[in-house]
Amino acid sequence: MEDQQPIVKLDNIAFGYPGGTPILKELSLAVYPKERIGLLGPNGSGKTTLFFIIMGLLRPTAGTVEVFGSRLWEEKDFSDIYRKIGLLFQDADDQLFCPTVLEDVAFGPLNMGKSRKESIEIARSTLADLGLEGFEDRITHRLSGGEKRFVSLATVLAMEPEMLLLDEPTTGLDARTRERLMDRLAQLDIAYLLISHEMDFLADTTDKVHAMEGGKILTDTTVKLHQHVHAHIHGSHPHEHK
Ligand SMILES: Nc1ncnc2c1ncn2[C@@H]1O[C@H](COP(=O)(O)OP(=O)(O)OP(=O)(O)O)[C@@H](O)[C@H]1O
Ligand SMILES: [Mg+2]
Repeated sequence: MEDQQPIVKLDNIAFGYPGGTPILKELSLAVYPKERIGLLGPNGSGKTTLFFIIMGLLRPTAGTVEVFGSRLWEEKDFSDIYRKIGLLFQDADDQLFCPTVLEDVAFGPLNMGKSRKESIEIARSTLADLGLEGFEDRITHRLSGGEKRFVSLATVLAMEPEMLLLDEPTTGLDARTRERLMDRLAQLDIAYLLISHEMDFLADTTDKVHAMEGGKILTDTTVKLHQHVHAHIHGSHPHEHK
C-alpha cells in the first residue's frame, strides 16, 4: 500500500486555537486509497479540529498537509482537490442550509458545474440509495435529528467524493438506521476516516482504529477492536460483520 500515493498525508502538525492551549502536537497521519480508518479519542481531544485541518478550514501552526500529493497552503486553488473529499460535519446544522432536502442534496453537484436536470437526478438517486425516497420536498430544518444526519450524508455522497471524513455519523441514529448506515458504508469503495465513540460500530465499519491522545495519533499502537456477539433490535435481516 505504501507504494501508492496517500490521499491525505499529515506530517508533524501542530495547532491551537488563538489564545488557547495547543490541541494538536506533532501529529502525523497518512490515508491511502480505500483505507477505512476509525478515530477514537476523548471529548475535546481534537478529532473534529483534525478534520478541519485536513479540509483546509483551519491552518496548522506547524507541519504540512498534503492532499492528493499537493501541499496545502502552497497552491492557490484547492477547490478541485477538496471536491474529492466529503466532510460529514459533527453537527448536521452546519451542513444543511437549503430550504428543502432535494435542493440541499442537489447543491453540491450544481456547484460542481453539473446541469440542474442532472443535479436533481443525482440528488434523487443518492437519496434513494440511502432509503430516503419521499424526503425530497421535506423542509430541511424541520427534519428530526437522525433524518438530518442521513440527509447530510446524502449531500456529501452526491458529490461522489474519493474520500470521506465522517464526524460521529451515528449520533442520534436508532438501531435500524445505524444498520442502514453500516450497510451503505460497506457498499462504498472509497477511503474514509470515521470518528466515533462506539466501539461496535468502529469494529464493523473500519479496518483499523487509531487512538488520539495528547494531541497526537498513536499510529504505532493501533487499537485492535475485537468482535463480540451482539443483539440487534431489528435483527431479522441477516448481515455480515467484517
Ligand atoms: N473555535 C474554537 N475556539 C476555541 N477553542 C475551540 C474551538 N473549537 C474547539 N475548541 C476547543 O478545542 C478542543 C478540541 O475540540 P474538538 O472539537 O476538536 O474536539 P473533539 O475531539 O472533536 O471532541 P468531541 O468528541 O467532543 O467532539 C476542545 O477543548 C474545544 O473546546
Ligand atoms: Mg468532535
